[in-house]
Amino acid sequence: MFHFFLFFLTLTQFCPIIDQMVNRWEVKSMYLQFPEDFIFGSATSSFQVEGAWNADGKGLSIWDEFTRRKGKIRNGERADTACDHYHRYPEDIALMKELGLGAYRYSVSWPRIFPEGTGRINSRGLDFYERLTDAVLEAGITPFITLFHWDLPLALQQKYKGFENREMADMFAEYCAAVVRALGDRVKRWITINEPFEYAAFGHFLGYHAPGKKSLWAYFRVMHNLLKGHGMAIRVIRNECPDAEAGITVSVTPVHPATASAKDAWSAGMANDFMNHITLSPLLKGCYPPALRKRMRLFFPRILEGDMELIRTPADFTGINLYSRELAMHKWYIPFLQTWTTGQDVPDSEYEKEGRQYSSMGWEVYPEAMYETLKMMQNDYGNPPVYITENGGPFTDRVVDDTVTDPKRIQYMQDYLEKVHLAVGEGADVRGYFYWSLLDNFEWAEGYSKRFGLIHVNHETQKRIVKASGWWYRDLIHAQQRGEQA
Ligand code: FCB
Repeated sequence: MFHFFLFFLTLTQFCPIIDQMVNRWEVKSMYLQFPEDFIFGSATSSFQVEGAWNADGKGLSIWDEFTRRKGKIRNGERADTACDHYHRYPEDIALMKELGLGAYRYSVSWPRIFPEGTGRINSRGLDFYERLTDAVLEAGITPFITLFHWDLPLALQQKYKGFENREMADMFAEYCAAVVRALGDRVKRWITINEPFEYAAFGHFLGYHAPGKKSLWAYFRVMHNLLKGHGMAIRVIRNECPDAEAGITVSVTPVHPATASAKDAWSAGMANDFMNHITLSPLLKGCYPPALRKRMRLFFPRILEGDMELIRTPADFTGINLYSRELAMHKWYIPFLQTWTTGQDVPDSEYEKEGRQYSSMGWEVYPEAMYETLKMMQNDYGNPPVYITENGGPFTDRVVDDTVTDPKRIQYMQDYLEKVHLAVGEGADVRGYFYWSLLDNFEWAEGYSKRFGLIHVNHETQKRIVKASGWWYRDLIHAQQRGEQA
């Protein structure tokens, strides 16, 4: 018996199919049972998957311009073709159907609809989203549309400094109205904005995302105007499509002190305010975090009467993107914030350090962050309905004989989902989970070097291969439908 086991074990080293079976067998006994109406989906965003950068009258986005600047994107890669989802969406939707996905979260590219940002509507842009949405619905999948996932029309950046300008909230509302008017008869779940923190911070404070600015003033202005734009968009959606559910997606990355020192604890508090509560607190409590506001008062924009009411416009849900946690250290020489957090280093491949596992983005694999965040939403933010609109593992994949065996990704999903399950069992109002991402895609400044997908994409041939994690996700979804217990 022992020999047979050894033989089998040896075989698994060489044969990806058996390896895959073993992995699937291992996790099969672990399927968790979620509430009956819990939604399992997957997510993408327009710029990261569509390609077709200048098709059918599309205008340029700030990312089209940014990816053409020297040295901004790893290996000088661009998203001109990306996953060619613009043309290959029927194949991608067929795969989603095969995986049994209940929902697909995708975004609309603003410059496809308004090539100059405002004014003239490009009907061919809207036609694309009609085709895509109809195909999603036809496959029995529920569309969740994000209205702004960072690909701002370049014209608005050049003319108005983008979201640094207060007027942008109105232009955003105009764009949202056009999209919701066209699709609102079919689409009942809307997400106004994806991750105001990352858009404002990476693009305007740290400068490694479009539009590439490095100013704390710009960061706070952009944040405030994005949140205002969200409030206006919610009102527009209510108006155009009263039976729809609408919310926003924010990122949450719990920050813990790096050591037991009181100074690091203070820094962790500051970092949590700067990265997490800066969105959640105005959206759900109607005020910016007081300690942050006081410390950073030099940089906060003028807040006019009515702004905070607009931002706090009641939404139907809060979308949360969660990947990891960070550690904070007090650094006296960093002006104002006096805080440094881990998580900024991006190595080339995953690694382990001091017993901790890191993904290829350099992000710590830390499933407890999921539980902690959901409990925070439950206890500190009034337990609003939540969707996990993104969670996923970037790991290095290898294609062997047309299969991709990715046990780390399966483990990642399993561990994070277990924490969702735990929080739901304790009363957290979580309605669904979207794996990021459906496809290996253009990961912003990292180009194509990071693979998050359930589906492997060869970016030269555009060939798709469902990874073992994709099949695992299908089995998990099927197990829900059959009501299998762990
Ligand atoms: C999130 C973004 C998404 C993707 C993942 C990895 O911050 O919303 O577009 O890049 O990270």
